[in-house]
Amino acid sequence: MINLSEFSIFFIANWKLNGNLSFIKEYTQLLKVNSSNGNCVVICPTAIYLNNFKQNEGNYYLGAQDISKYETGAFTGEISSKSLNEFGVNFCIVGHSERRQYFNEKNEDVKEKATKLLENEIIPIICVGETLEEKKNNSTLDVISNQILKGIPSESNEQNTIIAYEPIWAIGTGLTPSIEEIDIIHQSIRKINNKISNYKIIYGGSVNAKNSHDIISLSDVDGALIGGASLKIDDFNKIIG
Ligand code: PGA
Repeated sequence: MINLSEFSIFFIANWKLNGNLSFIKEYTQLLKVNSSNGNCVVICPTAIYLNNFKQNEGNYYLGAQDISKYETGAFTGEISSKSLNEFGVNFCIVGHSERRQYFNEKNEDVKEKATKLLENEIIPIICVGETLEEKKNNSTLDVISNQILKGIPSESNEQNTIIAYEPIWAIGTGLTPSIEEIDIIHQSIRKINNKISNYKIIYGGSVNAKNSHDIISLSDVDGALIGGASLKIDDFNKIIG
């Protein structure tokens, strides 16, 4: 299993339901990953294209966008952590707000999925974050605390689990919290519980080539989860460069 303490900054590309074979071919030809600077670049395409990235053998790791909480059996359409492991996948996003919102995923599901991932030596990237309404009600930290305390399995530790703070109102909108707000929230997340004070905590939500440098320069931000901008290869190269 990858040991997270070997890396300083994580760049996780979340392609969501985007990309096709010709797009991937061009993308992998143009992608410039510098593996000597302690950065870890993870590409999360839709599961069906993981193999196309694997064949390419670049300086990046592979991640899935979701996983079944079941390992085997009558669960039509599911993909197991065990098969991801066999396939050489090292990371998997869990609890993304789109999964919570459109597929009714609960903190308990997130925990079960993350547990299965850890059993199969895959790093879970556990997403947490508040809605705009929750932000307006000043309940951001309560929401995140609840998601973290209920969603992170007891087997997790700072070497095997990443937390991604993604304010839902910032995802795909071009809006972001201010740099100061991101700083304060990341510091506050570390104080939720002693256990997570040294976790890798990355930020996601409208990260782009212009704002990424300021965001990842914050000492309590250990990287970024990037959606839209990860599909624009020139922008993504700038972000990870
Ligand atoms: P975005 O998406 O960068 O397009 O805002 C981030 C995410 O959903 O992980």
